[in-house]
Amino acid sequence: MRVANKVALVTGAASGMGAATARLLAREGARVAVADMLEAEGQSVVAEIEKAGGTARFLRLDVAEEEQWEAAVAEVTGAWGRLDILVNNAGISGSNTNNLYDTALWDRIMAVNARGVFLGVKHGVAVMRQGGGGSIINLSSISGVVGQQRIHCAYNASKAAVRLLTKSVAVQEGAAGIRVNSVHPGLMPPMRTSGATADPVFRAKMLNHVPLGRTGEVDEVAYAILFLASDESAYMTGTELHVDGGYLAC
Ligand SMILES: NC(=O)c1ccc[n+]([C@@H]2O[C@H](COP(=O)([O-])OP(=O)(O)OC[C@H]3O[C@@H](n4cnc5c(N)ncnc54)[C@H](O)[C@@H]3O)[C@@H](O)[C@H]2O)c1
Repeated sequence: MRVANKVALVTGAASGMGAATARLLAREGARVAVADMLEAEGQSVVAEIEKAGGTARFLRLDVAEEEQWEAAVAEVTGAWGRLDILVNNAGISGSNTNNLYDTALWDRIMAVNARGVFLGVKHGVAVMRQGGGGSIINLSSISGVVGQQRIHCAYNASKAAVRLLTKSVAVQEGAAGIRVNSVHPGLMPPMRTSGATADPVFRAKMLNHVPLGRTGEVDEVAYAILFLASDESAYMTGTELHVDGGYLAC
């Protein structure tokens, strides 16, 4: 087992890549806190993990709210004594609008995708320091590296913030034994909040820029996260892993 006896918290774990990551970490031996705002979906991920013989618990968490982070981390350490792995995966899309200069949408995207990751890092680092180290994996995107059509620029800006926040904290926390890396998925199944990026015509155009010629699968991202979470990547920090079928190589 690749993360045996470790304790993990995955945000946005009720669906998509977060759910796939929670399942995989549990299968590889971690106890997993499935954190999300969607209680019913989150509980069903927990039930699946338990049915497969793993250990999980649901945490209701809005990543943009600091008091909720305090409570979530306290619940994990209260139940399992430590936190070894934090996956800051929760996020919302920027493609569900016709107004690419909507100010309220800028604020909401930055609150969830950038502030939410900052708060996770802040409270994760505090508890990992006490435990002697840990691994934090932040979900950025190809959109954190390049711009795209039909996506609110806040999405790209928020994912770019995640990319550099990751490197900054990696530099500052290396001495504490805390590794921090970012994962950059490419064209994946649409998010719950996707608009234009769920449109088959838009997706077909994007696929023309994917050397592997297909959409990625959630487990393909989960395996990259598992690697960064495990001790197999013990000498990696501040790096970015592109899981994009070659999109950023073009
Ligand atoms: N799907 C893609 O094409 C794609 C590509 C690159 C990067 N990403 C990033 O990967 C991550 C996961 O995306 P996904 O495709 O699995 O999306 P998804 O919509 O399936 O899952 C996102 C999860 O985050 C949760 N969430 C949203 N806001 C939250 C909040 N404030 N607090 C707590 N939970 C919240 C949702 O309830 C949902 O369960 C996101 O950060 C996304 O930006 C997605």
